[in-house]
Amino acid sequence: MGELMRRYWIPALLAEEIPEPDCPPVRVRLLGEDLIAFRDSQGRAGLLGEHCAHRGTSLFYGRNEACGLRCIYHGWKYDVDGNVLETPAEPAGSDSKSKLRHLAYLCSEVAGVIFTHMGAPEKRPVMPRYEWFGLAAEQVCPIKSYLECNYLQGIEGDFDSSHTSFLHNNNLANAERLKRDGAPILEAEETAYGLRAISIRKVGAERLYVRTTPYIMPSFSIVPGPPTEKFDEDDIRGFRFWVPVDDRTTWLYILNMRKKPFADEERKTLRAWIDSDYRRLRNAANNYLQDRGQQKHSSYTGIAAMNPAEQDGCATESMGAICDRTREHLGYSDKTITALRKMLLAAVRVVQDGGKPPHVVRDPQEADFSRLRSVKSVLPAGTDWHKVMEGMGPNDA
Ligand code: FES
Ligand SMILES: [Fe+2]
Repeated sequence: MGELMRRYWIPALLAEEIPEPDCPPVRVRLLGEDLIAFRDSQGRAGLLGEHCAHRGTSLFYGRNEACGLRCIYHGWKYDVDGNVLETPAEPAGSDSKSKLRHLAYLCSEVAGVIFTHMGAPEKRPVMPRYEWFGLAAEQVCPIKSYLECNYLQGIEGDFDSSHTSFLHNNNLANAERLKRDGAPILEAEETAYGLRAISIRKVGAERLYVRTTPYIMPSFSIVPGPPTEKFDEDDIRGFRFWVPVDDRTTWLYILNMRKKPFADEERKTLRAWIDSDYRRLRNAANNYLQDRGQQKHSSYTGIAAMNPAEQDGCATESMGAICDRTREHLGYSDKTITALRKMLLAAVRVVQDGGKPPHVVRDPQEADFSRLRSVKSVLPAGTDWHKVMEGMGPNDA
């Protein structure tokens, strides 16, 4: 799976973590590798192996100056491409530096997120152009939060439509909600970008409420906006990236987006559940600040979340960092999860056999995913749900 992940561009850090040229470098752990991110004097982001090629001192403590990061032990200096620019403790004329190349991953900054490709350069894909490619800085609000479990446990929650009626029921008085939503009909379809999960709920006897959720390879999703009937470009929507730090921890990036610009106050609210180190205020160490009184009287969980991801965090972290799948008992409500696991296993086999897994885009002409959405719509009862896809192209939903 790690090899599969290295076929795609994935988020490495938020642009705000290295806000200006020559600012302090930061630690980045990604796919089990310890790296250092820095922004050079020209504003370019770089991602280097943490340990100096000379004798291993951490470049986290390095001097970020004059278009390179310099190790504080003997002054070796690296550029964003991993070239060794200077080895000042070596005799003049020594060319040891020209024989060396330090580990460096190419970075690309879009929508306030710094992406990287950690695979072989000759296999580097084109970055698909999703909706947020075309949005201005005012229209996006990217945040991230740390999750103490495997990435797959996290993202499976995005494809588990039935849990929303329970875990995210913040109003026990609304008993109708459980009756209506508790057991939706589920479908899953493979697509060019990965998988489409579909949930279909009855609304009274006359109507169906249909929502689709894309799983975008290797581990991205778009969750639907609020349960209104129509897609509204002014709803805040979240493009989500579940990025493995290692096998046991994950960064969840939520790229909030909408047409209307975000005000400063809104930006603060959107990240009010996360501290300055991107750790969640509600976490396993404090039992997610669960309130048993609230659980009895007002909400299903007793976790009064500012963001549903806080309740999801409790559900998925408490399975253990790597859930033992052999002890699960899957049912109908796990239909889309089963489809998702099969699709990922098939993609891993493709990589093992030397092939190209889904959604590795080589041709810029085929990189347009700007209309990819989570779709929601209300249909008359008895209608084929595919009707919600009418008029859409293969990359649209
Ligand atoms: S260990 Fe980095 S320069 Fe010597
Ligand atoms: Fe959830």
